[in-house]
Amino acid sequence: MTKRRLLITSGLPYANGAIHLGHMVEAIQTDVFARAMRMMGHEALYMCADDTHGTPIEINATKRGITPEALIKEAWASHTADFKGFDIDFANYYTTHSEENKTLAYDIFAKLQAAGHIREEVVKQLYSESLGRFLPDRYVKGGCPKCGAPDQYGDVCEVCKSRYDAMELVDPHCVLDGSTPVVRESRHLFISLSNLVDELREFAKSDALSDEVRNFVMTWINEGLQDWNISRDKPYFGFEIPGYPDKFFYVWLDAPVGYIATTLSWCKQHGASLDTYWRSKDTEIWHFIGKDIIYFHTLFWPAMLKVAGYEMPHRIHAHGFLTVNGKKMSKSRGTFILASKYLEVLPAAYLRFYFAAKLSTGVEDIDLNIEDFYYRVRSGLIDNLANLHNRSFSFAATKLDGRLASSHYDEACRTLLDETKKRIQNEIIPAYESLDTATAIKVICEIGNAANLFYQEQAPWTHLKEGRQDAARAIVTACADVVRMIAIAIKPVVPDFSAKIFAQLGLHDQNLADLDAHLNDHNSVQNVEKTYIRPERETFDALTMPAESVQENAQETAQTTVLPGDEKTPLNTAPEIVRAPLKDAIDYEDFEKLDIRVGKILACEKVKKSNKLVCCQVEIGHPDGPVQIVAGIAKHYEPEALINRNVLVLTNLKPRQLFGLESRGMILAASDDAGLELPGTLLRAPGATVR
Ligand code: 2FM
Ligand code: ZN
Repeated sequence: MTKRRLLITSGLPYANGAIHLGHMVEAIQTDVFARAMRMMGHEALYMCADDTHGTPIEINATKRGITPEALIKEAWASHTADFKGFDIDFANYYTTHSEENKTLAYDIFAKLQAAGHIREEVVKQLYSESLGRFLPDRYVKGGCPKCGAPDQYGDVCEVCKSRYDAMELVDPHCVLDGSTPVVRESRHLFISLSNLVDELREFAKSDALSDEVRNFVMTWINEGLQDWNISRDKPYFGFEIPGYPDKFFYVWLDAPVGYIATTLSWCKQHGASLDTYWRSKDTEIWHFIGKDIIYFHTLFWPAMLKVAGYEMPHRIHAHGFLTVNGKKMSKSRGTFILASKYLEVLPAAYLRFYFAAKLSTGVEDIDLNIEDFYYRVRSGLIDNLANLHNRSFSFAATKLDGRLASSHYDEACRTLLDETKKRIQNEIIPAYESLDTATAIKVICEIGNAANLFYQEQAPWTHLKEGRQDAARAIVTACADVVRMIAIAIKPVVPDFSAKIFAQLGLHDQNLADLDAHLNDHNSVQNVEKTYIRPERETFDALTMPAESVQENAQETAQTTVLPGDEKTPLNTAPEIVRAPLKDAIDYEDFEKLDIRVGKILACEKVKKSNKLVCCQVEIGHPDGPVQIVAGIAKHYEPEALINRNVLVLTNLKPRQLFGLESRGMILAASDDAGLELPGTLLRAPGATVR
């Protein structure tokens, strides 16, 4: 394997707000990639920083009666605590308000000037005489010049979506003090992007961009690039432009320079050279960004890098936005979830696992559906992977003195281990390399399922009961070895899980190169503890409760018993269940008439005009192929969360018509007044009968 060197970044969060789960999509995707590269033996440094400049910082600091420096310091402390809580492993998390960043930004600016790419132009803008400042577009409102809608911002109309100049607003007013702005002139500095169009076109054609992103960029280039205004008048919090007193670099000029400055600060601490990372063809520079900032990273930023003599990015990966329960995050719906709030409710590993299971190479939005989140964590991480660990390690510890077997396995054990290794090398590693973590997680879960099935079928407890301790030990050792290999494969996603596995095996941290270091009779399991505790479904609902009601509820829990049907199910308290009376006893012959089998849901969609029904195609292992079943579970499960799920099916219920659709069976579920739940992990293949 050739060792690669990667310098990896994610978008720098603004210092004027808290970290929310939208930020975490990007940080988790980037961190998983960086960790995966390190797990494979490459050098991968993840650099990030707070983006600290601009008008909002200056205005908010003034409002709070503190300096901008104090404000950004506070933000840095809170941001770093949140990222730490999510196990994001930065090589350095810095700030754009640093000496390094100022020096580097000045140098880039000087090179742009020297190459003749900076020009000056007098610009007319709205100005507040009462505040003594020019007003950015978001600080003015007025009537839309196109459709007349009142109270629209100075750049775009929310009603008719037209874009316009703030000076075109009808009856504009300043959002800060309500005053009427005037038009005033000021001299500004522009980067002549059009001078660099050939270089930018060449960059856009390179492998740095996916086809999807390239299409956007090519459209912008073909439409003609506008020169970019990089100056702002005082008052402003930022770097003053050399030779232009009272003028500052626009925040977006020095923000990406923060990627280099953060590396420089790291280099100083580690005695390394900046050129190794930013001026060497041997380093791959990877930028992870949201799709809203593609323009800055694919046009402005490469232009600056090119002129200043830095290497071009090796890859710019744009991801989609986060939605919660299918909708844009919203404070009023309680779905604007802060990172700190999430960490009060659930372990970071669950979200890392869930996002990794959903993220892939494209820019489509990713949805945090609370029901699906619970189901995937429960079925993938807890009932599959954590369960495989717990059952095999606990058995070894309690029944076999913790001692493992030498690796003289029988055919079945060898096949399990060979297959696991092959899938890690041939499927999981390439998936990580191409950012397709969804596939990596899918394969890891399949490996877990196969090993759970193996454990069940090989039944080490039977061997033990019948006096074949060695056979029992070999089976348990093979499963523990699969757990070890899973721990290597999933380490980029849930490093805490892997660390617990290695520790309980008495091993140091392992990586891909250790895949073949199989467990044997020199190894033992020790201090076995569960990796994760099975979570309550209700806990997940606390994520989308407004902060106050989480608190209110927590207090309420201590004081009152909440009955079913009450909207506020308190945290950590199971509602009191009103159980249906038991039915009369039946003969075994009656039971035998029921053909209950394991079915796998292959496809599933909501039934039109019904809010209760979904229509599923279910594989029940019958030669006639899958059957169609209409089930009343739409209120409890999103159709997409049901696909590939194993369920129990009563297959010989006479067909009936529901909403014009034929239903040939019934999906069995546990239900009471508090809700409905499908059975947990069913590892048997479709068609297995239930007795
Ligand atoms: O969009 C944002 O939140 C910006 N603060 C991202 C900056 S990324 C980089 F260019 F600095
Ligand atoms: Zn309009």
